[in-house]
Amino acid sequence: MDDKQKVILELKDISKIYGSLHALSHINLKVKKGEWLAIMGSSGSGKTTMMNIIGCMDRPSNGEVLIDGKDISKESQRNLTEIRRDKIGLIFQQFHLITYLTALENVMVAQYYHSMIDEKEAL
Ligand SMILES: Nc1ncnc2c1ncn2[C@@H]1O[C@H](COP(=O)(O)OP(=O)(O)O)[C@@H](O)[C@H]1O
Ligand SMILES: [Mg+2]
Repeated sequence: MDDKQKVILELKDISKIYGSLHALSHINLKVKKGEWLAIMGSSGSGKTTMMNIIGCMDRPSNGEVLIDGKDISKESQRNLTEIRRDKIGLIFQQFHLITYLTALENVMVAQYYHSMIDEKEAL
């Protein structure tokens, strides 16, 4: 298969329910390697809820989340931490950067936990 056609992320019929509140309802999404996406919607429409699930910070109430073909929706917290370390890069609204490091060094922290630091790649 052409590498560019490879589906790296798939949401299958995802729902997230908080009590009686349906934050996400039957969401389906396929993302291919190299694709750029923007998720847009009004405040409270579920963008952060969806990003937290994609970023392995949270689990859906129902449905499957496939990262590189592997369903992570029922993985343990420990395994989710490993998947986050190896496959996910997140930049938060509130940044959560380490203040005494430079921007470049902040990027390199992720490399450090993932494999080895590489200043050229981080730049
Ligand atoms: N931890 C939570 N507990 C209960 N309700 C939540 C929680 N997180 C989000 N919600 C609710 O889910 C809906 C979607 O929120 P959110 O994903 O933050 O939307 P957005 O990021 O698009 O503004 C909102 O109604 C919000 O109040
Ligand atoms: Mg939000």
